[in-house]
Amino acid sequence: EKGGYATFMEKEIHEQPHAVADTLLGRTDDAGRLVLDEVRIPEERLRQVERITIVACGTAAYAGMVAKYAIEHWTRIPVEVALAHEFRYCDPIVDENTLVVSISQSGETMDTLMAVKHAAELGAMTLSICNTHGSTIPRESDAVLYTHAGPEIAVASTKAFLAQITACYVLGLYLAQLRGETYADDARAVMAELHEMPAKIEDLLGRMGRVQEMAEFMSDSRAVLFLGRHVGYPVALEGALKLKELAYIHAEGFAAGELKHGPIALIEPGQPVFVVVPSPETPHELHKKVVSNIQEIRARGARTLVIAHDGDEDVEPFASEVIRIPHCSPMLAPLLAVVPLQVFALHLASAKGLDVDQPRNLAKSVTVE
Ligand code: M6R
Repeated sequence: EKGGYATFMEKEIHEQPHAVADTLLGRTDDAGRLVLDEVRIPEERLRQVERITIVACGTAAYAGMVAKYAIEHWTRIPVEVALAHEFRYCDPIVDENTLVVSISQSGETMDTLMAVKHAAELGAMTLSICNTHGSTIPRESDAVLYTHAGPEIAVASTKAFLAQITACYVLGLYLAQLRGETYADDARAVMAELHEMPAKIEDLLGRMGRVQEMAEFMSDSRAVLFLGRHVGYPVALEGALKLKELAYIHAEGFAAGELKHGPIALIEPGQPVFVVVPSPETPHELHKKVVSNIQEIRARGARTLVIAHDGDEDVEPFASEVIRIPHCSPMLAPLLAVVPLQVFALHLASAKGLDVDQPRNLAKSVTVE
């Protein structure tokens, strides 16, 4: 049942190309326009959406943070991401023109369910992005957009994360289409590039030998830091979460721009730091800024583990290790950049002899508040 892999998590990491491909399946008509049949909210209501609030927990919330960048960029609708367990208690500003999008692999997370119910009571439109057919959250929502990652058994979420990001992108492009057009990027071009991602993820999975070696070699690490910027910031948070839950190592993700506002004090010789580098064509010179962050921490002795696009030579002088990902446009990079971080956590936990599929103290779905 593990398909020849040692753990469900490893199997699910290798299923990621399919998770993305299947989540894209059947979302466009012959003319290349997005059609979301499952979204039962009338189109005229969706055109009235003035704000979007994403509610989710854990990895699903990080997918939501990635989605915020893309949906705001394409639609100019303000998007807020709320941890579902905080949402109800912060007197949320939600009305009938708010679309509350919940993201949940299981569809049973109590915190997320209660947030959706609260949003519905306040009159919001509710849409569930969910991986489990017939589960509670989609049933309690006005509309559902299923991710087609297939059942996820390992407690640590991997393929569901990629499928959630994919579904959020499809939703963002669909909302943009409904409202006229995208404010940035051409929806068809983005969809065409999304369709190329499964092959790129497959390619990337074939390059993970060195990451596995690094994980084994680093199995006695006491703390690992993760830096990212723009859509790479939630990827850094997700990389840290994977390492905490699987390997029980203290791990923190930071927005790279925050470094000089405090976290750089943590850097001492030998400190491992993963850095998710944006593609060189990311606007506002973000690439250059992250490269100089790498330079700064390297000068203080950090062991810099750099995730960079193919062809990005600027990182070489400051990297202890360079992990290459296939080149793609800035917005889609999380679908690739997170993969080495998943593989790293998996192999580090395995090297420590830990139960990768069932980490201590955790349950696959958290059905209590
Ligand atoms: O089933 P859900 O997507 O609602 O679960 C949300 C979180 O509990 C989940 O992502 C959790 O953070 C995972 N263990 C992360 O690997």
